[in-house]
Amino acid sequence: MLLWQEVIVIKIVRVENLEAGMQLAQAVYSAEGKILLNAGVILKDAYIARLKALGFPAVYVGDPKEAEAIPEVISSNTRRRAITLVRESFTEIKFGGTLNLQPIQEVVNTIVDEVVLSREVTIALTDIRRHDDYTFGHSVNVCVLSVMMGIALELDGLTLRELAMGAMLHDVGKTRIPDQILLKPARLTPSEWQEMQQHTRYGFEVLRGCAELSTRAAHVAYQHHERMNGAGYPRGLEDDGIHLFARIVAVADTYDAMTSDRVYRKGVTPFEALKTIKSSRTRDLDPGVVDIFLANVVPYPPGCKVRLDSGEVGMVIGSKGQDSLLVKVEYDALGRQLRKPTEIELRRHAGRRITQVL
Ligand SMILES: [Fe+2]
Repeated sequence: MLLWQEVIVIKIVRVENLEAGMQLAQAVYSAEGKILLNAGVILKDAYIARLKALGFPAVYVGDPKEAEAIPEVISSNTRRRAITLVRESFTEIKFGGTLNLQPIQEVVNTIVDEVVLSREVTIALTDIRRHDDYTFGHSVNVCVLSVMMGIALELDGLTLRELAMGAMLHDVGKTRIPDQILLKPARLTPSEWQEMQQHTRYGFEVLRGCAELSTRAAHVAYQHHERMNGAGYPRGLEDDGIHLFARIVAVADTYDAMTSDRVYRKGVTPFEALKTIKSSRTRDLDPGVVDIFLANVVPYPPGCKVRLDSGEVGMVIGSKGQDSLLVKVEYDALGRQLRKPTEIELRRHAGRRITQVL
């Protein structure tokens, strides 16, 4: 049973839609991990302008107490520590240094332990990243999602840690791609695209040089853009020719890349991303891995506006795994706003269904 106290009423609001007087539900951090705005702060025009200037796509709005109640797969502390470490390590490599694996291995082990312990997997509330932070937050998200799939695939503890290291470092080769290609706010030219694809080989070279890292983890960097039908890069491997780790990371990478705001486009909703992933099952992505992924994620995050088959429109305010969703119905089938919104629980196999995400 869903406990009513667990209902979450915070939502993600795009920075361009913020208004003075709204309350921040979660703190906003700078690239260096310092707090810019605390949770609970009431937004002023000046703050909103600053968030815009700094390139934040969106923030969480609502009661911070509610935000604390959101079940997170890993703690925000661990997430921040991991992002900071990835940023530092990647910057080090970019300027010719070597990869110090030990601190990364430590935080990766913590991530594995926390994902193993988290009962409920929710993919919706990942961190909201500034455009230039994309690679670092992305690495951590891909790591979390990959571990989640690894657990569902019943990989043992040691194997999970290897998978997690490979996932965390899968894009390390991007440190050798020039910023004008990596951050280009437009479509890449054919030659730029060719160079971009080399991040797989560069990553493998960097990781192969680390004696403490398993070859399997290094191969994640090499193979995470290979596709089941042979249409991937850099080598056009097919099916089982692609290592399981890379097939797992490919699904996590695809999902997180789609849902993230990038310099050149806005991210899609988790729901749309899941639909696309489902459709590329068998063609590009490993169908077994995709099924595991779909069975373990929450497609309708709290704050998501939905239409029901009855025609009513409301907002998802809570979820309990895949089986139960709590929706606050705000408009009737004729589009009239209800004076008193009603809350209904949707169960997977009975009663009303969601037909559209708005
Ligand atoms: Fe990549």
